[in-house]
Amino acid sequence: MKIVFVSGARPNYMKIAPMIWAIRRLKQRAVADIQFVLIHTGQHYDPQLFDVFFRELGLPPPDYSLGVGSGSHVYQIAEVMERIEPLFQSERPDVVVVVGDVNSTLAAALTAAKLGIPLAHVEAGLRSFDRMMPEETNRIVTDTLSDYLFVSEESGKENLLREGIDPGKIFFVGNVMIDSLQQSRLVWESSKVRDDMGLRHRDYGVVTLHRPSNVDNRDTLQAVMNALSVIAKDIPIIFPVHPRTRKQLELLNGSAPNLRLRNGRIEADGIYGLEPLGYHEFMALVAGARIVLTDSGGIQEETTFLNVPCLTLRHNTERPVTVTHGTNRIIGTSPAAIVEEASRVLNSPRPEFCPPPLWDGKAADRIVSILMAGRRNVGHKLFNGILLKARGSVT
Ligand code: UD1
Repeated sequence: MKIVFVSGARPNYMKIAPMIWAIRRLKQRAVADIQFVLIHTGQHYDPQLFDVFFRELGLPPPDYSLGVGSGSHVYQIAEVMERIEPLFQSERPDVVVVVGDVNSTLAAALTAAKLGIPLAHVEAGLRSFDRMMPEETNRIVTDTLSDYLFVSEESGKENLLREGIDPGKIFFVGNVMIDSLQQSRLVWESSKVRDDMGLRHRDYGVVTLHRPSNVDNRDTLQAVMNALSVIAKDIPIIFPVHPRTRKQLELLNGSAPNLRLRNGRIEADGIYGLEPLGYHEFMALVAGARIVLTDSGGIQEETTFLNVPCLTLRHNTERPVTVTHGTNRIIGTSPAAIVEEASRVLNSPRPEFCPPPLWDGKAADRIVSILMAGRRNVGHKLFNGILLKARGSVT
């Protein structure tokens, strides 16, 4: 069996890694004839958003790097499609696996569908119900095209059924990001980052921001920074800055008080801006934090699993289980709400730990088993040099 994995951007790598680890385990025990090919589209290309993650997660160098880079969403999607089509045709995979909701995910999904190659979507069914969010379109279209929809929480299954997806294609397998977190726990727990920054024995907060809706609007970004400055009078705020956010903060012309874009030891309360961190250092910092404020999707899940209070600076979440079972609260971006909610967290005991169902570190094993079983059940044939599904309308 041959699987092609497609990665594009930072949040993809920790979702693909556990599936590759699962395949390696099967190969070591010689229980399965299975090979994989890794294609990186290059949507994210900065070493801080790419190399360090591949290295730390033990991912092999990509078999193909498409070098697509930055551009408008239409440009990114079109470039990935054009560059990935000949690779899908020459590699002839039994299945293409895409993860998450970035532009590269959608582009690879569309290409696989056009070539009639079976498609698996990991993290299917998540919905924010906010069509202004670029990822929402990517999620909906990718799910519509997929043959295997691997969902990480109950809401995913419910959303897909409501959209009329065939229940036979939906598999509730758990959360691959939690696999990565669990399986590399010993490594990130031994990170020295908190000692190096003088944070081992004190309360601190971690902030990440990168959503266009938060950082591309000058007023919103300034308002959030003002609220963070208030919180930073009580505890230091560690802020690894995404490249998109850095550009916008620079445009704010130094009007973000206390922002220091340099590494170093934390000496006082204030906002400490850092370069983007690697996976292990970031997880070590999050695990030890008193509070996390973020607009990321994945960090809502990681804080749930680590039992760290999380305030999500958005008006919705596509991951409701982090609110019902986890530590997450959706609070929007008004400075008053941010300050008030942060104060509530800092003055409350830590919440009870209640991990969501199947967030047990075994999601990737389930996915690989289902794909292997599917390979036995779904025949394939070649037509005009293109792999076609024997099941479905293309025959
Ligand atoms: C993308 C994903 C988002 C994901 C996020 C994680 C889409 C639609 N969005 O958003 O779902 O949560 O990644 O990081 O796919 N840039 C660099 N270096 C890089 C990559 C980007 O400087 O390596 C700059 C680009 O010039 C661009 C900006 O960052 O201006 C945004 O990059 P882009 O890939 O468009 O979207 P993200 O905001 O990173």
